[in-house]
Amino acid sequence: MKFFIDTASLAQIKEANELGILDGVTTNPSLMAKEGIKGKDAVFNHYKTICEMVNGDVSAEVTTVTFNEMIEEGKKLRAIHPNIVVKIPMIKDGVKAIRWLTEHDIPVNCTLCFSAGQAILAAKAGAKYISPFIGRIDDSGWDGVQLIEQIVKIYKVQGFKTKVLAASIRNPNHIVQCAEAGADVCTCPLEPILGLLKHPLTDIGLAKFMEDAKKSA
Ligand code: G3P
Repeated sequence: MKFFIDTASLAQIKEANELGILDGVTTNPSLMAKEGIKGKDAVFNHYKTICEMVNGDVSAEVTTVTFNEMIEEGKKLRAIHPNIVVKIPMIKDGVKAIRWLTEHDIPVNCTLCFSAGQAILAAKAGAKYISPFIGRIDDSGWDGVQLIEQIVKIYKVQGFKTKVLAASIRNPNHIVQCAEAGADVCTCPLEPILGLLKHPLTDIGLAKFMEDAKKSA
């Protein structure tokens, strides 16, 4: 399973990249706004900087909702850097835009997926990635990991090439469960990634080793 970081924070991207486990980045308009990135030029420059920092796919989301606008925006986003993947929402015009962009060799990450039916449509349209939002599904009283399992199964049975990119990750256990469910990619904020490191027995064991090391120093 690949690890993407779900942020527009350059400091967090740098920290995850330095761990040596980062395969890509996903962003969205909310994450860009959180970092105070404002205006088309600033947004495009920010994407360029991220692409130059990380060796892997960088998802850049359109901020329009009609077919013509999305393909125009998608072309411009893709022109920023060869690693840009255009993020398109799962709406009717979005499905058309996924097909058009894919046919023009522009890879797409289909976002805002909350059902297996939506994942089937995205795969039929040729999306490179489908992004089911598992944390938001859990928040609404459903089971996000169960949706990952279902989509992974459908894609396997049907031979779809679209990669399952588990998004809206809230904790380290989500990452473990997505790995178990067969997700191709997990995109997470930095905190759940660092949370994978934690175990009290590791801390206790290390303290003892360090103490005993002093005895034989
Ligand atoms: O990037 C999309 C997704 O990961 C959003 O997560 O936490 O806003 O539900 P969240």
